Amino acid sequence: MPDLTSLQQQAETELAQAADAEALETWRIRWLGRKGLVQQAIDHLATLPREERAAYGKAVNAFKQAVQAAYEARAQALKEAQLAAELTAEGFDPTLPGRRPAVGRMHPTTRTLRDIYAIFAAMGFQIYTARDVETDEFNFQLLNFPKGHPAREMQDTFYTTVPDVILRTHTSPGQIRAMRDYAPEPIRVILPGRCHRYEQVTARSEMMFYQVEGLAVGRNVTFGDLKGTLVAFANQMFGEGRKLRFRCSHFPFTEPSAEVDIDCIICGGKGCRVCKYTGWLEILGCGMVHPTVLRNGGYDPDRFSGYAFGMGPERIAMLRHGIDDIRYFYSNDVRFLRQLGW
Ligand code: PHE
Repeated sequence: MPDLTSLQQQAETELAQAADAEALETWRIRWLGRKGLVQQAIDHLATLPREERAAYGKAVNAFKQAVQAAYEARAQALKEAQLAAELTAEGFDPTLPGRRPAVGRMHPTTRTLRDIYAIFAAMGFQIYTARDVETDEFNFQLLNFPKGHPAREMQDTFYTTVPDVILRTHTSPGQIRAMRDYAPEPIRVILPGRCHRYEQVTARSEMMFYQVEGLAVGRNVTFGDLKGTLVAFANQMFGEGRKLRFRCSHFPFTEPSAEVDIDCIICGGKGCRVCKYTGWLEILGCGMVHPTVLRNGGYDPDRFSGYAFGMGPERIAMLRHGIDDIRYFYSNDVRFLRQLGW
């Protein structure tokens, strides 16, 4: 029968000699390993006559626990000793300030979107989230772009393997979805989200960008309401006293249509590189909702009218912060994000 008392003494003596992690591990395998000395002492139980088993079992259990406890205490002591050695080692100065963890911040697009939401929320617009993956019907046909219409030329997109399921080229299909959700109630919504266009990526374009669409439908909604809303928006977004210019334009889903410019916020209208010496900066497209589109949304155009507008938040951020290339927004250069994030 193994002499557990002297075995334990032996284990402790050897343990005291294990001076580093490596020696400790060798000791652990020798004593506490699967085929180690402690296990051997336990295995001895099976060879004993029945009447001796209870007493030996109790003793060997206590032995095992004592060896394990000694091991844990030694491991802890070695760890502390090592830490203490590192702290007093040459070249280590615990009084140096710590390293700052990298803190993320808001992307310039997110920040601009939130500013836009706040301005329109104060004017009673709700945010309506429509889908990014659309059908040809909603993206084009219900907005008066039948198949083969030349206005589609400006908005080629990405196609999925499902026929007529595409990535939306603008947020305008959300107009139809919002109207169909609310008709015949009057609505005032903004629809933010990602849009995709299949185009050559140049300094002036990205294949993915955001838009914020606006839509108001009700009784007697006029072009004057549209103008007032956009003037209020521009003054809050770009500073009081902005001048707005409405230029005749064409969109298949609005009639009449306009593009809106503000007087250049860099040069105040005198002419500079940013406004290309015109004194004006284009900020959005807009118009009165076309009667066919109202009907497609579930409103009777004889009783209801509405206006819509669509703007690019990246473009707005570019104008506000003098950024000259839209590709900075999604190229993930942290220097850009650090400079312009909030
Ligand atoms: N959807 C148009 C575009 O992407 C913008 C627009 C929206 C124009 C709403 C008029 C009304 O170019």
